[in-house]
Amino acid sequence: MFTRAQRAVLSKRMKKISPVSRSGRFAHDPGADVAQFTESISFDRRLWRHDILGSLVHADMLQKIGVLARAERNAIVHGLKAIAREIEQGKFRWKPELEDVHMNIEAELTKRVPAGAKLHTARSRNDQIALDVRLWLRDEIVLLLGQMVNLQRALVGLGEKNADALIPGYTHLQRAQPVYLAHHLLAYVEMLERDCERFWDCYSRVNVCPLGSGAIAGTTLPLDRVFVAKLLGFVDAGGRPQLTQNSMDAVSDRDFAVEFCAAAALLAVHLSRLAEDLILWTSAEFNFIKIADAYTTGSSLMPQKKNPDIAELARGKSGRVIGNLVALLTLLKGLPMTYNRDLQEDKERLFDTADTVRATTRLMAAMLRNTKVNHAACAAAVSDPALLATDLADYLVHKGMPFRQAHHVVGAVVALSEKLDKPLNRLTLKELQSVDRTFGREALAVFDLKRAMAKRNLTGAPGTKEVAKQLMRWREQLS
Ligand code: ARG
Repeated sequence: MFTRAQRAVLSKRMKKISPVSRSGRFAHDPGADVAQFTESISFDRRLWRHDILGSLVHADMLQKIGVLARAERNAIVHGLKAIAREIEQGKFRWKPELEDVHMNIEAELTKRVPAGAKLHTARSRNDQIALDVRLWLRDEIVLLLGQMVNLQRALVGLGEKNADALIPGYTHLQRAQPVYLAHHLLAYVEMLERDCERFWDCYSRVNVCPLGSGAIAGTTLPLDRVFVAKLLGFVDAGGRPQLTQNSMDAVSDRDFAVEFCAAAALLAVHLSRLAEDLILWTSAEFNFIKIADAYTTGSSLMPQKKNPDIAELARGKSGRVIGNLVALLTLLKGLPMTYNRDLQEDKERLFDTADTVRATTRLMAAMLRNTKVNHAACAAAVSDPALLATDLADYLVHKGMPFRQAHHVVGAVVALSEKLDKPLNRLTLKELQSVDRTFGREALAVFDLKRAMAKRNLTGAPGTKEVAKQLMRWREQLS
C-alpha cells in the first residue's frame, strides 16, 4: 500500500504524532508496518461526508443535553464544515498514522477548535463506524435503485421499439416455442423488480440508528437518542424514530451489510444472465441484435472482430460480487461478541459490491439503449414450424384426444417430417392422416404464427395482447 519512501516519512511522522487512541495508555508508538497493516484511512475516507454529518448531529445533541455550551457547539460545527470543504476540494491532508476517517477528522478538528476534544463524549468509534456505514449505505441503496429503474426502462424501451419482433424461446438452449422478444426482455424487468423489493426491504433494516451504543455498553450520560435519530432521518414511513435496541448487537451487527451484499449478489446474477443472453444474441449463430460500436471492442489480432466486452464483464463481475458476500459471511461467523477489529474488513467488500453493481447496472442500461434488433434474423429463426409442434398437440386436445396421446401422435408426425425431409408445415393432410385419422383440414392452420401468438392470452403468456398489456403496465409503473 505504501512505497518505501512513504514508509520512511510515515515512521518519522509516527514519532511526532501519537495516534489519539494510544495516548496515555501506551509508552511506545507502533512501527510503521503495524500502522500500515491496521490503517483503514486508505479506504474508509470515502465515508467522510457521513462521518461529519454524524458528528454535526452528535454535537447538536451534546449541546441539547448540556455537555457543550452553545459557543462550543458553534465552533465545532464551524470547524467541521471547514474541514468538509477542504476534503471536498482535495485540500485535506489525510494522515495514515491517524488510522481511520474518524480520527483524522476529529484530530484535525481538535487542532483547530479546542472544544473538538469534547465531541467524542459518549461516543466510540464502534458506534460511530456502525453509524457511518448505515448512513452511507442508505444513500447507496437509493442511488442503486435509481439505476435499476433506469435499466428496467431501457428493457421496456427496447421491447416497445421492437414490439412485433418474435424469436424462438429456448429451454436447454434448444428452440422451444415462439415468444415476443419483448416478453423475453420483460422477464428481466420482473427479476429486477424483485431485486428492487429486496433492496427496499434491506433499507428498512439499514435505517436504524446505532449512535448511543458507545463502545459496547452505552453510556452513563443522558444522551437523547431520539433527537439524533430524527435529525439523521432514521425514521420509518410513519415518522417514528428507529433506534437499535441492544448496544452489544448495535456495535457488532453487520447483518444489514450482509443483506445488501446478498441482494446485490442476486442482482449481479440477474445481470450476468442478461449479459449472457445478449452475448449469445450478438453471435453470428443467433445474430438477433447488434450492439453499437461504442459499447463493443475490437480484437488486437483479428481485424474483423467486434466483441461484446461490456456484457462479458457484466457477467464476469458477478463473480466478485458473489465472492464479497461469502467473504462477509466468513468474516462474521466466528466473531465473539461484540466489536472486533475484524469488522474493519467489511468495508472494502461492501464498497466493492456497491460500486460494481451500480456501474454494471448503469452500463447495461446504456448498452441496451444502443442496441438494434435484427428483425430479418429473428423472423428467420422463429419461422421454424417445429416451434409450434405443441400447438399441433393442443389442436388434437381440442378434438378430444388425451394430451399424452396427442403428444405421442405429434412426435410421430415430427419423425415423419424428418423422414420425408419436409418441414412440419409442408406435410399434406394425407400425410398427417397417415399418422392419425383425427387430423382435419384445419390442422395445418396451426402453423400460422400470427394466429398462434394471438391465442396465447393467459396472464403472463407471450400472446400478442398480453405482451402489449404487460409493456403498457410496465411503462406506466416505471414512469
Ligand atoms: N476502522 C474501524 C472499523 O472499520 C473503526 C472502528 C475502530 N474501533 C476500534 N475500537 N478500534 O471497524
